Amino acid sequence: MKNAADVVHHDLAEICNSLTKEFTALNGKHILITGGAGFLGYYLVQAILHWNKTTQSQIQLTVYDNYMLGMPAWLKQLENEPNLTLVKHNVTLPIPKDVGNFHYIIHGASIASPPFYRKYPIETIDANVNGLRHILNYALAQQKKQPVEGILFFSTSEIYGDPSSENIPTPETYNGNVSCTGPRACYDESKRVCETLCVNFAQQHNLPITIVRPFNNYGPGLKANDGRVTADFATNIFNNEDIVLLSDGSPTRTFCYLSDAVIGYYKVLFKGRPGEAYNIGVETPEVSMLQLAEKMRDIAKDMFNYQGNVIKKVSDDKHYLTDNPNRRCPIIQKAQSELGFDQKISLEEGLTRSLIWYRDNK
Ligand SMILES: NC(=O)c1ccc[n+]([C@@H]2O[C@H](COP(=O)([O-])OP(=O)(O)OC[C@H]3O[C@@H](n4cnc5c(N)ncnc54)[C@H](O)[C@@H]3O)[C@@H](O)[C@H]2O)c1
Repeated sequence: MKNAADVVHHDLAEICNSLTKEFTALNGKHILITGGAGFLGYYLVQAILHWNKTTQSQIQLTVYDNYMLGMPAWLKQLENEPNLTLVKHNVTLPIPKDVGNFHYIIHGASIASPPFYRKYPIETIDANVNGLRHILNYALAQQKKQPVEGILFFSTSEIYGDPSSENIPTPETYNGNVSCTGPRACYDESKRVCETLCVNFAQQHNLPITIVRPFNNYGPGLKANDGRVTADFATNIFNNEDIVLLSDGSPTRTFCYLSDAVIGYYKVLFKGRPGEAYNIGVETPEVSMLQLAEKMRDIAKDMFNYQGNVIKKVSDDKHYLTDNPNRRCPIIQKAQSELGFDQKISLEEGLTRSLIWYRDNK
């Protein structure tokens, strides 16, 4: 793959090939994605449009987003696509009255980047909790008209907080070790109460709601200034600066490339059991932030003759590391056995594709 357009085209084709059965069944149906202008929206939205284009299908797609950080250029370019409706809407407000019937709803609207949710904690809670509640109210009202066929709530691996060592790798059955008052609580705790809402609406009202817990996605579409680690390192690389670690480099994560993750999310929406949560991520390799930085440095050196090094600094943000989990690594056996989810893209391949994308989207 030579450039960002190749990477995106290849990834979208891979997503569509892995979801042929599911997307075929969607012809003529209407999907709502909230928060679709964000990082995960980049492929959640474009995969549907790619499918429509390559198979002459007519899946209707509506995106709600308040564009709190501006409307991204990639979405603006899609404004006139057939079967796509973009609505500037704050999900903390009730769903507009005149909307049609949505067959499927994906609730992804939230602030997801730690520096941003610490800056906007109340907005983060509202977008998750009130936003989800409005969607559930809509789905309840639709039960007597045209029932919604599936709702996917985007939770997070952060609902596990900082797991004790015997709970790593972490299965869905682990209850978590989370602060309800710390600087990350606005995010973690609102996701937790949202999961409780989903489970109870599924049980009490028979709503077909599934929950996904993403573990550290990376790849095309994650904005350079987002504040998440792969974006920070790529920014350093293409600014020709040293790669800056804002910790001692020891915390570990596993990283799931966006196209793999998006396949998993659609599988949870279409095939997951109502009221159930699924980890979506990869089990290996679990790498330290230092190892990740070194991997990105080495790939950039080979591909772009990058000459920088990896250095350590202390963040200006005094809460940068507060309640930051030391290890995060999922068990994904539930999604593998129930949904047929698995990793296709290795970390090296995913980082290579990501760096090509960042080079062309500076
Ligand atoms: N990317 C990951 O690795 C990851 C990991 C765990 C969980 N998640 C969850 O997945 C979802 C999507 O994540 P992302 O990485 O795309 O996040 P993102 O921050 O890139 O995008 C979120 C989008 O939601 C929109 N939004 C925020 N508040 C809103 C509101 N009140 N009304 C309407 N729109 C609003 C933003 O404008 C943005 O476009 C989020 O719920 C996030 O918590 C993501």
